[in-house]
Amino acid sequence: MLWIKAFHIIFVVSWFAGLFYLPRIFVNLAMVPVESGAERARLLLMATKLFRFITPLGVLAVGLGLWLWFGYGFSGGWLHAKTALVVGLIAYHVWCGVLLAEFSRGASTRSHIWFRFFNEVPVLALVAISILVVVKPF
Ligand code: HEM
Repeated sequence: MLWIKAFHIIFVVSWFAGLFYLPRIFVNLAMVPVESGAERARLLLMATKLFRFITPLGVLAVGLGLWLWFGYGFSGGWLHAKTALVVGLIAYHVWCGVLLAEFSRGASTRSHIWFRFFNEVPVLALVAISILVVVKPF
């Protein structure tokens, strides 16, 4: 079980690295004038590669978490609350894909200020999930 938990944490950390950085690229994309083609193209390429890279990492992080849950009989309110937050994270990840598609079409209308707040969501989720899984308050 410890090997599964170790790789669960490895893929969680890798997934979060992308969940922290991808919206930061969106902040920059929202600030770049539409006519500055080269910079937009570079940021779009970075965001597209990053999204494709972190998607399988998220699948592995969640898959190993479910293996721990159902394979080793973990239970408790903390695990249900944690899973609910993770479902929110998965929705956030999918939303990043939708926002990326909007940027690719040149159809994004949100301001860089909006993306700066959007960028903080994974931070709040990480704090809450880590407290739930380590402290197990309920
Ligand atoms: C549906 C998705 C997930 C499930 C079902 C799940 C389930 C679990 C389970 C059962 C454990 C073992 C707990 C223990 O040994 O006490 C665990 C450990 C852990 N999980 Fe997840 N997890 C999921 C996603 C995540 C995510 C997104 C994070 C991000 C912060 C995360 C962070 C951790 C950490 C840090 C540990 C190690 C805790 C410790 O050793 O005390 N998990 N997870």
